Amino acid sequence: MLRVGVLVSGGGTNLQAIIDNCQSGAIDAEVVCVVSNKKNAYALTRAEKHNIPRYAERQEEEIAKILQSHNVSLVVAAGFMSVLSPDFIDKFRIINIHPSLIPSFCGIGYYGLNVHKAALLRGVKITGATVHFVDAGCDTGEIILQKAVEVLADDTPESLQLRVMEQAERVILPKAIQMIAKGELR
Ligand code: GRF
Repeated sequence: MLRVGVLVSGGGTNLQAIIDNCQSGAIDAEVVCVVSNKKNAYALTRAEKHNIPRYAERQEEEIAKILQSHNVSLVVAAGFMSVLSPDFIDKFRIINIHPSLIPSFCGIGYYGLNVHKAALLRGVKITGATVHFVDAGCDTGEIILQKAVEVLADDTPESLQLRVMEQAERVILPKAIQMIAKGELR
């Protein structure tokens, strides 16, 4: 059973999708801990409801110790709003979910609603989400899965974010974890 540690900062909709898929058996994995760099993140409440060990911690060294104490074999950055150092990245296998079709609308400053604002400003007709391995760059790691979502004429950043979360993120993140759990990826 793949032991997964999830890094969060906000609402935890991606965390919830992982938990639900683990509990339904769709993913051969277990969320063994959740760490948030924001102490009031609702994602911590979601972890509490499922009796998952949860921590509010900002110091990277402490986050690494927590993950190691739970013998995590995969780290998932799910709505995690902090860039991880090369030293941290060398310690773990990490994947990230980004709410655009990388290489569009990614990199420094492209997170949360900013991504969807940029997509609407550019006038793209298709956007989506990407799951990728985390390397020393920002959103530059090897791409694992992507899923496209149509942009509607009357979309706001909020309506687009919701559609990308519901139709893309919630689908490809659990799928990517299952691929890793089955040994289909390095
Ligand atoms: C999501 O759009 C995710 O792609 C981005 O942060 C947003 C919120 O994630 N990284 P969550 O609801 O905290 O999982």
